[in-house]
Amino acid sequence: MNLFTTPSSIIITCHKRIAPYLEKEVLELGFEIEEAFVTGVKLKGTINDCIKLNLNLRCASQVLYSLRTFRAVNADDVYSYVKDYPWENILPHPGYFSVTSNVSNPTINNSMFANLRVKDAVVDRIREKRGERPSTGAELTGTVIHLFWKNEDAELFIDTSGDSLARHGYRKIPGLAPMLEGLAAATILASKWNRHSPFINPMCGSGTLAIEAALIATNRRPGLFRTNYAFMHVQGYDDKVYLKEDALLEEQIKDVPGLRIIATDYSPKAIDNAKKNAIAAGVNKLIEFAVCDFALTNVPQDEAGVMMVNPEYGERLGELKELEATYARIGDFMKQKCRGYFGYVFTGNMDLAKKIGLKANRRIEFYNSTIDCRLLEYELYAGTRRSES
Ligand SMILES: C[S@@+](CC[C@H](N)C(=O)[O-])C[C@H]1O[C@@H](n2cnc3c(N)ncnc32)[C@H](O)[C@@H]1O
Repeated sequence: MNLFTTPSSIIITCHKRIAPYLEKEVLELGFEIEEAFVTGVKLKGTINDCIKLNLNLRCASQVLYSLRTFRAVNADDVYSYVKDYPWENILPHPGYFSVTSNVSNPTINNSMFANLRVKDAVVDRIREKRGERPSTGAELTGTVIHLFWKNEDAELFIDTSGDSLARHGYRKIPGLAPMLEGLAAATILASKWNRHSPFINPMCGSGTLAIEAALIATNRRPGLFRTNYAFMHVQGYDDKVYLKEDALLEEQIKDVPGLRIIATDYSPKAIDNAKKNAIAAGVNKLIEFAVCDFALTNVPQDEAGVMMVNPEYGERLGELKELEATYARIGDFMKQKCRGYFGYVFTGNMDLAKKIGLKANRRIEFYNSTIDCRLLEYELYAGTRRSES
């Protein structure tokens, strides 16, 4: 059976609260969604479909292709079912594989133990069939086997991605408190930006939001920056499908005449890093960078667009006092310089957000790692001050 052309269940995982944007992306690629949940979506497809999904999705973490479901009361059951699977038809020869899992079972208090049982079962099976031991390790650079195990329901997957798709591969210098690329893309997809009006990103740090905006506007997909995926390490892989999908990514890039993306930060080092990251992403010519206080950012007045800012949230008291003043100034900046624009503030501190002094017309929920965050949307009317609280 060739898994590259055999349909099965596919689960695409993502970070919490990003699923609505992932869902939209998957639909736009022409797939039908069977089920959506908090951390992902489920659909039907082949590993060839997984190739397309891996190369194109901005908001996904992993694309998992289901091999089998089974009931497992304890780790011995997992071992038996895993050993029973014909891994000699999946692992290339000589093989290197890794095991990941998502486990919630009363008999397991450390998911590493479940991983170890899966690994042992695969190694034992391959040793019996091939007379040699495949190598294993934590680096997700070869074949990746994923176990999902909740109570007594277990499912084995091939993780076709390997390293998380949420890191888009162009950011060589992360800087301080950077946003994960997949999260930055999701916040832009959640905004009302039309992909050709000005996109203004003061306090840009390593440039993630500005770079993601340029990538989205010009239809540059994450697959352009990555050459290794776990699907390449599954028996039967033939690079024709991958090369075709990869060539399509180049063909689909589009010009957006007159596009203005402006990114500023008061730290020269941050701007230097952001420029290097933009070069790696191939969008440096599309972004105007400047070193300045955020309030001095050039906001084009001939056409209104989107202003998106991700200020620090602060933890120490002294820091918080200073940040209260910064958040109040962000409110003034939006009122005075961003009329007609949609303003967005991404923050994990709602007390600080109150200092902005404007009434948000949407509060879109996100997580930044484990921090409960909001993308606050402000409609900044051109002529009146109707949005003010
Ligand atoms: C949370 S970081 C932004 C991270 C960014 N979203 C990324 O992905 O890299 C906040 C940034 O605001 C900058 N910053 C803080 N106060 C500023 C000010 N008054 N004017 C301009 N930039 C400022 C800092 O230098 C820092 O780079």
